[in-house]
Amino acid sequence: MFIAHTIEELRAHLSAYQHPAFVPTMGNLHAGHLALVRQAKPLGDVTVASIFVNRLQFLPHEDFDSYPRTWDSDCAQLRAAGCDVLFAPNEKELYPEAQTYKIQPPAGLADLLEGQFRPGFFVGVATVVMKMFACVFSEAKGRRTAVFGQKDYQQLMVIRSMVRQFALPIDIVAGPTQRAADGLALSSRNGYLNTQERAEAVQLSATLQRMAAALRAGASDIAALEAQAMDGLRARGWAPDYLVARRRSDLLPPNANDPAPLVVLGAARLGQTRLIDNLEV
Ligand code: PAF
Repeated sequence: MFIAHTIEELRAHLSAYQHPAFVPTMGNLHAGHLALVRQAKPLGDVTVASIFVNRLQFLPHEDFDSYPRTWDSDCAQLRAAGCDVLFAPNEKELYPEAQTYKIQPPAGLADLLEGQFRPGFFVGVATVVMKMFACVFSEAKGRRTAVFGQKDYQQLMVIRSMVRQFALPIDIVAGPTQRAADGLALSSRNGYLNTQERAEAVQLSATLQRMAAALRAGASDIAALEAQAMDGLRARGWAPDYLVARRRSDLLPPNANDPAPLVVLGAARLGQTRLIDNLEV
């Protein structure tokens, strides 16, 4: 695996290829990331992953400083998954001056759910992803692909709409959420959970599964379903931010008798750890 720490090294190396397939990450890799790398492999002639903990997408009180940096194990796992190129710039390389040009995703999409509880998060994500695309795809010709995990459902929608509105010649491919045997969605932040919290953590996906099952069975009082889900997790000691059923197309609440396909999404804090998950209904 070729490791590039600078944009120049990356571009020089990728000039030998035409169709990069790219998986951006913040490191601290787990089986979910590696599944994205494996999914990306047949989609291009070179598989590129990035590791960059992006300060722009963290709020001041969030875990930017303590976000686990697990370089040796990340490199070993990427090699084993068949990644060809790792782009791992430091902050000075990616943001040599204050990043004052930013991508501002539309409020209608980016201010709800995650955006409501993490203001500015999607500005940080969209800005770094646009910049990563400029680094990774500048030498490409023809097909360019980037793979994002479906666990970050709203992030995937923001990236898709950014690519569409800026007419970027990049195919955005969704990778299915990888889960532990008990159903917990794999996440870098699962590592923050202690043994007791890890056993409890499955309740987030279990709650979403119950909501999805109720909707499939014809439940129509969505507000009641959401309130019941919030109360259920609160009673177990969680601090939920949201547990909602939304239209897949725009993440807005469905209207009465709206036949639009739905997704249930949740975010909740267990101890110090904030977990998110979703399920398409
Ligand atoms: O999903 C992530 O890990 C990050 O938001 C991303 C897409 C790598 C941007 O920093």
